[in-house]
Amino acid sequence: MVHKVKGAVVRSKNADVTLETILVPDPGPGEALVDILTCGVCHTDLHYKQGAINDDFPFLLGHEATGVVSAVGPDVTEVAPGDRVVLNWRAVCGECRACRRGEPQYCFNTHNATQKMTLEDGTELTAALGIGAFAEKTLVAAGQCTKVDPDADPAAVGLLGCGVMAGIGAAINTGNVQRGDSVAVIGCGGVGVAAVAGAVLAGATTVIAVDIDAKKLQRAKDLGATHTVDSSAVDPVEAIRELTGGFGADVVIDAVGRPETYKQAFYARDLAGTVVLVGVPSPEMTLELPLLDVFGRGGSLKSSWYGDCLPSRDFPMLISLYRQGKLDLDAFVTERITISQIEEAFGKMHAGAVLRSVVEL
Ligand SMILES: NC(=O)c1ccc[n+]([C@@H]2O[C@H](COP(=O)([O-])OP(=O)(O)OC[C@H]3O[C@@H](n4cnc5c(N)ncnc54)[C@H](O)[C@@H]3O)[C@@H](O)[C@H]2O)c1
Ligand SMILES: [Zn+2]
Ligand SMILES: [Zn+2]
Repeated sequence: MVHKVKGAVVRSKNADVTLETILVPDPGPGEALVDILTCGVCHTDLHYKQGAINDDFPFLLGHEATGVVSAVGPDVTEVAPGDRVVLNWRAVCGECRACRRGEPQYCFNTHNATQKMTLEDGTELTAALGIGAFAEKTLVAAGQCTKVDPDADPAAVGLLGCGVMAGIGAAINTGNVQRGDSVAVIGCGGVGVAAVAGAVLAGATTVIAVDIDAKKLQRAKDLGATHTVDSSAVDPVEAIRELTGGFGADVVIDAVGRPETYKQAFYARDLAGTVVLVGVPSPEMTLELPLLDVFGRGGSLKSSWYGDCLPSRDFPMLISLYRQGKLDLDAFVTERITISQIEEAFGKMHAGAVLRSVVEL
């Protein structure tokens, strides 16, 4: 059977998001059909719309979602109809060279649904990050469903499906922040503020939030930043050094993903410190650094895919911390909107007015 539902589609580069009837097939082997409850608006959706990820239009947007499994393919055992799930975009394969050496968080062959969702005329849709959850139903690989406690607010826990997990994981997994560390986070949108929260969870004692927008800095403070730096007014490298005894931070996280913010991160870390790039650059961006500084400053320059998370390990753990009051996921949900308000939500994201707008389906 094919299900006809409404979905938010971008047909061509920079076109407005339109609500379209989409066709979602029943799940085949290894697949699950999910009724979406909520889906957050992430900057990566905007990157898709702008053609900055690839040119495989039309896109079915949305990827930070909570839903309920409504059907599974014949061989699927990990989830069953009725399960409350948070969707993830890195369903590990278990067989590639990363999985085989015990590092499935780096899986090089992550799974998505095999069958395609389409427009009514049969045009195949590219689902954002293999999810496509600005829709009443979506089809994913069963491994993209992480079963979670049905009592938690879907809007809040669904954000673990992308930005919040990417940010927290950039701090605790990729950056390996330790108790007593100093951490600076450049760019305090949903991802960056989550990195602030992750650094706090890990026990960092100095957590410096950097942004060009004062509203974002206040939110970072609310989530535990000990200091804030407005980099539209002061040199963030100088400011971070001043706040860390003249040395720089142990871990600096770039949650913007531009050459200038990466350079700031590179020079704002202490000798032998760590830079984590979690913001996603666009294809035309390049970086020039003196190679002697790369060598001479030591340490490590890392990139963070999805916070190097393992959804099956990290989502339930973070939801537990949320329920215990140790991680304020509610603070990330700035507003709840309908599926017809996604364009407006992009505008608010651009204006810095929200951490996350969450679509309720
Ligand atoms: N690596 C991953 O797995 C992953 C996952 C999700 C999102 N992302 C990426 O993370 C980035 C942030 O996403 P988001 O949803 O938080 O976006 P967002 O738009 O909510 O936040 C971006 C923030 O950066 C700030 N900013 C912009 N330019 C700046 C500058 N020059 N200096 C300091 N701050 C600056 C903005 O004011 C804003 O607060 C995006 O590139 C997104 O694609 C990466
Ligand atoms: Zn793998
Ligand atoms: Zn995202």
